[in-house]
Amino acid sequence: MNELCVEERVETTVEAARLSKVYWDGDRRLEIFKDVTFSVPKGQGVVIFGPSGSGKTTLLNLLTGLDRPTEGRVRVEGVDLGRLNEAERAEFRNRSLGFVFQFYHLLPEFTALENVMLPAFMRKPRDPESRVRDRAHALLERVGLKDRARHFPSELSGGEQQRVAIARALINDPRILFCDEPTGNLDLERGLEIVELLSGLYRREKKTVLIVTHDERIAKMADRVWNMVNRRWQ
Ligand SMILES: Nc1ncnc2c1ncn2[C@@H]1O[C@H](COP(=O)(O)OP(=O)(O)OP(=O)(O)O)[C@@H](O)[C@H]1O
Ligand SMILES: [Mg+2]
Repeated sequence: MNELCVEERVETTVEAARLSKVYWDGDRRLEIFKDVTFSVPKGQGVVIFGPSGSGKTTLLNLLTGLDRPTEGRVRVEGVDLGRLNEAERAEFRNRSLGFVFQFYHLLPEFTALENVMLPAFMRKPRDPESRVRDRAHALLERVGLKDRARHFPSELSGGEQQRVAIARALINDPRILFCDEPTGNLDLERGLEIVELLSGLYRREKKTVLIVTHDERIAKMADRVWNMVNRRWQ
């Protein structure tokens, strides 16, 4: 069987079709990107590389339904996000997707453990609290923060907050994980641990992982790497 055959049989999970995004600054038109088309095969780790300001966060916001494209279409697991209303999109995200935001977005009034647990409480049906708590503890241990469970975000370093955000993204055992610069604030050693953890998610656990990053180490371990250069994809 040749490679093309195998490729065609692979299921895709995230599909972008001719996506464009324009922001308006008063009457000045800012075209961030245009005609972006790609599909992410199920169970792969895909990295999108691009310089600062090239539109990586904007793209993730479109792929996860947090923002709408100016033109084009996003389908996730066959669902056209443009056809869902806000409540349906929120439910879909909570059920199937995990995110690691570039700036973490941890809730300051909750501890690290509670932040990790929160997405599980927005799910229906809800798991019993004791089970969620055990899972959150295990995830914090997995990201090297066993001893920080009771700390509030203001008592954590940037890198520690980033790792809490990764644990939180995994609490609902998502099929697809989106990560925006997940090693952006980590030192070499911690960064490598996270690279290892993320690559384990697609290599061993067969999750689909889409990462935007500047980190060459992540790119080296990815199944595919796409570059965003001069508002075009290569
Ligand atoms: N809400 C907005 N209104 C207007 N312009 C915006 C808005 N959000 C982002 N932009 C602009 O869109 C461009 C892309 O921003 P984006 O945050 O997606 O870049 P990025 O590739 O994630 O950058 P970085 O690597 O620094 O995180 C930037 O030039 C930014 O100024
Ligand atoms: Mg960004």
